[in-house]
Amino acid sequence: MSLRLSIDRISKSYDGNAVLDGCRFEFEAGKTYALIGSNGSGKSTFLRICALLEQPDKGAVRFFCGDAEQPHEIPLKRKITLVLPKTGVFNSSVFNNAAYGLKIRGIAGNEIKEKAARILKLVKLAGKSAQNAQTLSSGETQRLGIARAMVFEPEIIFLDEPTAFVDAESKGIIEELISKFKDRQRTVIIATHDLHQAERLDSQILSMTEGRLKLL
Ligand SMILES: Nc1ncnc2c1ncn2[C@@H]1O[C@H](COP(=O)(O)OP(=O)(O)O)[C@@H](O)[C@H]1O
Ligand SMILES: [Mg+2]
Repeated sequence: MSLRLSIDRISKSYDGNAVLDGCRFEFEAGKTYALIGSNGSGKSTFLRICALLEQPDKGAVRFFCGDAEQPHEIPLKRKITLVLPKTGVFNSSVFNNAAYGLKIRGIAGNEIKEKAARILKLVKLAGKSAQNAQTLSSGETQRLGIARAMVFEPEIIFLDEPTAFVDAESKGIIEELISKFKDRQRTVIIATHDLHQAERLDSQILSMTEGRLKLL
């Protein structure tokens, strides 16, 4: 059964400035949501809180499987992931970077090889498996960062402006990958400034204004 995210009146302030102010939304499993809003409107803060990397001051982030609420523990945390606008990579091969998320989940060696190879093919980095990841171009680095997040097939993926710093070719590859992911009944929540991108990904548009979310 798919994991479902429910945001219940979350608020967050930094140094007395309210960023999120009673934000609420019920995300449907298997859909893609594009989060839009001006710079500083709180999109990244919202995504970090949803991905359980930061706590709200008030309100709750809840995950459900059917009617059963899932505790914020490692089994849940392994089903969600956040990709940042500029992902970091380890000082190791492209292949090892792609395989990392599978290794820490205790997946068997042959399955790791197969899954990492498959995802690298999807982001068009199969020919660079042996190359040190730190020598990739910025577009390739971002493709690898997304591959690394998707390789373990999270149920919900949060993407914070994943194509802000990449060229058109990498953008196309990344969007294709996101679309494939969505075809598998996973939930995608992507912050973007690009309304055309939101359309290409066939997403529901959520606007962040004055600390609240509104479905457009
Ligand atoms: N860790 C933090 N400490 C202090 N202020 C922060 C922190 N994170 C975000 N902010 C502030 O919160 C506001 C919203 O930021 P952010 O969530 O990054 O917006 P967006 O992603 O929509 O551009 C900004 O004014 C930013 O300076
Ligand atoms: Mg941001």
